[in-house]
Amino acid sequence: MTRQALLATAVLLAAASPVLSETAPADVAFVDGAVAQSLTGTPGDAANGAKIMTSRPQGNCVACHQIAAMPDVPFQGTIAPPLDGVASRYEEAQLRGIVANAKMTFEGSFMPAFYKTTGFTRPGDAYTGKAAPENLPPILEAQQIEDVVAYLLTLKE
Ligand code: HEC
Repeated sequence: MTRQALLATAVLLAAASPVLSETAPADVAFVDGAVAQSLTGTPGDAANGAKIMTSRPQGNCVACHQIAAMPDVPFQGTIAPPLDGVASRYEEAQLRGIVANAKMTFEGSFMPAFYKTTGFTRPGDAYTGKAAPENLPPILEAQQIEDVVAYLLTLKE
């Protein structure tokens, strides 16, 4: 195959398979904590984002954050700033960066990094101070991050 033909095939494959065009956790480009590029290229679904944010095994953002726009969600946490009006305080790229890995914006934050697979210190490894040897799956998938960002963008002052 010629180089052009190879390239054309690669482009076709990338277009046909959304998974191939996803940015892997290790390849996310943070600039001052912000991530300008969508992780999937597919626009986020805000309604699904709201579900992820209130689901315990997934985002469970409400365990720490209050969201006045979700009055039906019980037991909202108060150990983190309320997310009301967060879209008026941050750009989309900053919100994507905070959700993917808040530690890139807030140094030493105890907010979990939702799109990260390496460099964790597991309880058993804490004694050695070494990160866990194998990769863990990210807490949220790339499209789930985009869905959460889409919901956050609805929280205007
Ligand atoms: C374990 C607690 C915890 C969880 C769970 C958590 N956060 Fe946070 N978050 C924090 C804390 C604490 C901060 C404040 C920054 C810092 O660490 O100093 C923060 C800050 C933020 C900010 C910036 C708010 C501002 O006004 O500056 C956004 C946006 C945010 N979180 C979104 C989320 C989303 C979306 C989720 C769920 C996918 C989530 N957080 C889950 C603890 C949490």
